[in-house]
Amino acid sequence: MKRHAVVLLGRGGYSDAPKVQLAGLVKRLECTITDNLVLGAFVDQATPSLPQALDECAESGARRILVVPVYVPDDRNLGAWILKLIKRWMANHAGEDVHVSVSRPLGDHEAIAEAVVQIASDPVSGDHVSQVVGLSDNGEPGWSVIPPHKYHLLQCRGPRCTARGSGDTWDHLNGRLQDEGMLDKDVLVAQTGCLYPCNLGPVMVVYPEGVWYCGMDRSAADRVVGEHFGKGQVVSDYARTPAPQAQRMPDPSS
Ligand code: FES
Repeated sequence: MKRHAVVLLGRGGYSDAPKVQLAGLVKRLECTITDNLVLGAFVDQATPSLPQALDECAESGARRILVVPVYVPDDRNLGAWILKLIKRWMANHAGEDVHVSVSRPLGDHEAIAEAVVQIASDPVSGDHVSQVVGLSDNGEPGWSVIPPHKYHLLQCRGPRCTARGSGDTWDHLNGRLQDEGMLDKDVLVAQTGCLYPCNLGPVMVVYPEGVWYCGMDRSAADRVVGEHFGKGQVVSDYARTPAPQAQRMPDPSS
């Protein structure tokens, strides 16, 4: 059993590239600190989330966990929120004698500056840029067409919804849409950053009705696919109404 663990915390994206890069870093670190459990996790836009990775560390017996953010540049607000998230996680695991700490931001490390100097001084990097310049930037004709669709579904993949399990929920929901033959036909799915009401997450919005669905999980997703997309009926158990205008934004003059 490994008593110490390191969680490399990255940021996700719309392709597999962040997962592939993070997996490469995890593998590299595993070979170097063999007496530690090493896992990767994502702040947003991908899974596993940080709470999921911390759960896995604790379940495997690790009692000292170091979280290392590996994204650049650092975001101070995000960093403050990650500390809160970890505090909440530790409160839920009180009595288990698990301690979590967070390393300083990667962007503050001198090695980053050295890496940038090395890359910028490498003549091969310049060759790569000159190859890219010759490419057409028109893209495929399809990128100029708004696809036909009946519903537009915005799924939040911001940090807080990710920590609340949106990754698993959206994978399940999109799988259901695929099975029903609705994905990217009746229902055009777009994944977004934070949509604002984080405490109600995972959050998604369905247009043209503008229905906000909150607290989404797998069973809620099943109901929205069957009732809203299948029959045009809003699933009121999960639908929330936007606050009146006056309550939403603080008065900038006050
Ligand atoms: S992270 Fe989803 S609403 Fe803020």
